[in-house]
Amino acid sequence: MIRPKTEAEIALMREPCAIVRDCLAFVGERVKAGMTTKEVDELVYSFITASGAEPSCLGYYGYPASACVSVNEVVVHGIPDDRVLEEGDIVSVDLCAYKNGFHGDGARTFRIGKVSEEKDKLVRVAEECFFRAIDGLKAGTPLYDIGYRVQKHAESNGFSVIRSYTGHGIGREMHEDPAVPNVGRAGTGPRLEANTVLCIEPMIAAGGWRVGIAADGWTAYTLDGKSAAHYENTVLIREDGVEILTL
Ligand code: MF3
Ligand code: CO
Repeated sequence: MIRPKTEAEIALMREPCAIVRDCLAFVGERVKAGMTTKEVDELVYSFITASGAEPSCLGYYGYPASACVSVNEVVVHGIPDDRVLEEGDIVSVDLCAYKNGFHGDGARTFRIGKVSEEKDKLVRVAEECFFRAIDGLKAGTPLYDIGYRVQKHAESNGFSVIRSYTGHGIGREMHEDPAVPNVGRAGTGPRLEANTVLCIEPMIAAGGWRVGIAADGWTAYTLDGKSAAHYENTVLIREDGVEILTL
């Protein structure tokens, strides 16, 4: 069931979402070649806890870290470890904060030093897919218009859209209804109601969209080994447009 939030609930969600926003900026200013993905996770853990919030991911179905740190061909849910970031890598950092009884969720893909033209464009197009998706979005928009717009922009740029992961509702739980696919047919799906809060998170790949899961049970990687990028915000749907809570 898709349940829109009350104004009181929305007020409580602003803080965890602002912490996610600030944490992503904090990480973006510090992530660099030579750092391990575990060191990135330590930045996230210390920022979130110092903000009086909890990292929602830590312990979620046994997930062992505060952030998902996904390098190059890793699409999402990369478990932080001793992998060293190198010049030319792209790294997606996905994190959630829990405070006031609510979660906020966001992700960015960062470039480490100078990256290839293809990776540079992939990161840019992933962000653009998000902004295309929310352009004109408001109460009454059919849900699958989001996926339609993401898919159209990604594919018209020669990239593919990951199918096996979606965006989602968010609130007292990190994942609530509805699932928000990144592919779809325009004009289909339930019409969004005002005060619905969604995580819209395009995941796109430079090659094919097929992914595998590593032996750790989490790490999702592209089967063809080509890079993937991820960009996510928590978004509030209003009568007349959207408010991005994590930006
Ligand atoms: N932030 C991720 C999401 O969008 C959640 C990852 S769950 C984790 O949906 F536990 F693996 F971190
Ligand atoms: Co999410």
